[in-house]
Amino acid sequence: MCGIFAYLNYLTPKSRKEILELLVGGLKRLEYRGYDSAGVALDSCDGKDIAVIKKQGKVQALEDEILKNEKLDFDETTLSHVGIAHTRWATHGVPSEVNSHPQRSDIEHSFVVVHNGIVTNYKEVKTLLQHRGYCFESETDTEVIAKLVHHLWTQHPNYSFRELVEQVIQQLEGAFALCFKSKHFPGECVATRRGSPLLVGIKTKTRLATDHVPILYGKDDFPLKAKEGDTAPQDHRPHGRGSDLPIIPRSDSTSEFQPLEDKEVEYFFASDASAVIEHTNRVIFLEDDDVAAVKDGALCIHRLRRLMDDPHAREICTLKMEIQQIMKGNYSYFMQKEIFEQPESVVNTMRGRLNFRDDSVTLGGIKDYIPEIKRCRRLMLIGCGTSYHSAVATRQLLEELTELPVMVELASDFLDRNTPVFRDDVCFFISQSGETADTLMALRYCKGRGALIVGVTNTVGSSICRESHCGVHINAGPEIGVASTKAYTSQFISLVMFALVMSEDRISLGNRRLEIIEGLKNLDNLIREVLKLDDKVKELAKSLFQHKSLLIMGRGYNFATCMEGALKVKELTYMHSEGIMAGELKHGPLALVDDSMPVIMIVMRDPVYVKCMNALQQVTAREGRPIVICEEGDKETIALADRVLEVPKTVDCLQGILTVIPMQLLSFHIAVLRGCNVDCPRNLAKSVTVE
Ligand code: M6R
Repeated sequence: MCGIFAYLNYLTPKSRKEILELLVGGLKRLEYRGYDSAGVALDSCDGKDIAVIKKQGKVQALEDEILKNEKLDFDETTLSHVGIAHTRWATHGVPSEVNSHPQRSDIEHSFVVVHNGIVTNYKEVKTLLQHRGYCFESETDTEVIAKLVHHLWTQHPNYSFRELVEQVIQQLEGAFALCFKSKHFPGECVATRRGSPLLVGIKTKTRLATDHVPILYGKDDFPLKAKEGDTAPQDHRPHGRGSDLPIIPRSDSTSEFQPLEDKEVEYFFASDASAVIEHTNRVIFLEDDDVAAVKDGALCIHRLRRLMDDPHAREICTLKMEIQQIMKGNYSYFMQKEIFEQPESVVNTMRGRLNFRDDSVTLGGIKDYIPEIKRCRRLMLIGCGTSYHSAVATRQLLEELTELPVMVELASDFLDRNTPVFRDDVCFFISQSGETADTLMALRYCKGRGALIVGVTNTVGSSICRESHCGVHINAGPEIGVASTKAYTSQFISLVMFALVMSEDRISLGNRRLEIIEGLKNLDNLIREVLKLDDKVKELAKSLFQHKSLLIMGRGYNFATCMEGALKVKELTYMHSEGIMAGELKHGPLALVDDSMPVIMIVMRDPVYVKCMNALQQVTAREGRPIVICEEGDKETIALADRVLEVPKTVDCLQGILTVIPMQLLSFHIAVLRGCNVDCPRNLAKSVTVE
């Protein structure tokens, strides 16, 4: 996931070396988010131009590159300056220097911008700008932002920097956090967000006189003047009725603020607090569509429109957390954070693809190949571990909506068998990292036999991504915990969306498609509901963590949850665990069941409900005491359960997303209770690049 860090010093002398150290230091704090390249922009030696330095790879490589730059005078000191920096995690275009940020408007670097998120309408904006004569150098969506602000500046030379950015964001769709610098507006920085987090850190030598920065709306954007004797760089007292402070209106449309005299201040803009906490603990968390602008050392937060109940001011919060805590938010482990991120990550997977207004689904990365895929002889879904389970979870729906034979394969076994593959096969390679050796080799095997290769990965620019003919990026955001959680649910949704695309012209499947799209629309809220079970799951974990084994049973759409749940338990807790197809019980596994064997059963009111109830009865008849994951309010099932976790109901083919979350939470809590290393389980690696 990309990271933004910007630093503005006002009347605070800093050498270029110090500024660069600050920028690079900020990026290092954001490294944990995951990235593939990095870059900075700052004023060059003469102070009239902007220097942009970018590098693919680690922040350390960027730092080395900066130190090699002979054009920069590292010792020159500036009183006031703006530097912006970025770590990029590729979404549009491979990781490369030209695709890294800052992106520029022109070779003069009139405007430079760093961006987190995805601009979904960038193609339209790009076409418009191309018609206006702009030439693009990168494959990124971000470059349109830099060029758009430049275009607007040529059209409206009297607009302030902040007004230009406001115009820009009105043209953009998607999710973003942006930070701009311009050689036409020296010493000014403008930042904004929609859907991607961004905060402003404030550092002053003396205590701030207030805890709020007023929000300025449309026409009433009058700044407040610092009160005589205030020790703060500016007065951030809320604007509005009852204020006893003088209001100084703008003198003209280009002057946003009254300059504050001799007030030293430093501002930091960052994607998260981990990058600023070593400098200041005073931060403002920007809200969607806030435009924060600093000019002459004064910060203003502006919004185009006042909505009902909008507050008058943004609070300057005091952070009381340590860096480690901030990186993990309020969570103790990355895995835990990633489990709880799923309401947002599933939305990110669907963003720009599922249009709930007209119930259409577009997967840009495979759009042009759909006619060919529709003509294929069979679909093969290949992966390892959790990625393989996402294929198992969606096979039934793929069979239903594509009416094609669907083979689901573990990459290693697929290779061992020298499985026959033909030119008219379409092979999907599912991998969070995009680097898993077994999956990659299976890909090359199928490619060599002429099949169409579709990558489904979370890592743009990964080997699987590069070697595929086309693909779907699952957009789950970086997953740091070795145990895969949010990637699973995003892979699941990506494959469901593929099934929807394949069936878009099938009138007979129209109602089924609408039911699924409706289910996807509400999925984030249902996931939030399931996450509320956390305390209950923790209690359950306390009763299970000293056991040696845990059996997880189910069938139909929820069999994948059994396998995925068992894998999570094994890898995190080092307990034995097995996902058992409930239909197989009487063919052997039933012998394991007695009153001391922990058994979890997944029973949903779906087409295999009656069969699941039979299995449940078989278990209780052997004195088994099953913990049941079932639908909210299903009294019949609850009556047979020893303990129960009730999850909300969704469409049968999506239910596996809701049933897997209690299993993720359970394995997490058992691991903590057993003192295991949650984020880095023994003997395992996040990316398995060896056979
Ligand atoms: O990066 P990939 O999705 O290709 O990785 C495949 C497996 O190694 C991975 O899913 C593994 O099973 C997880 N650590 C399980 O949580």
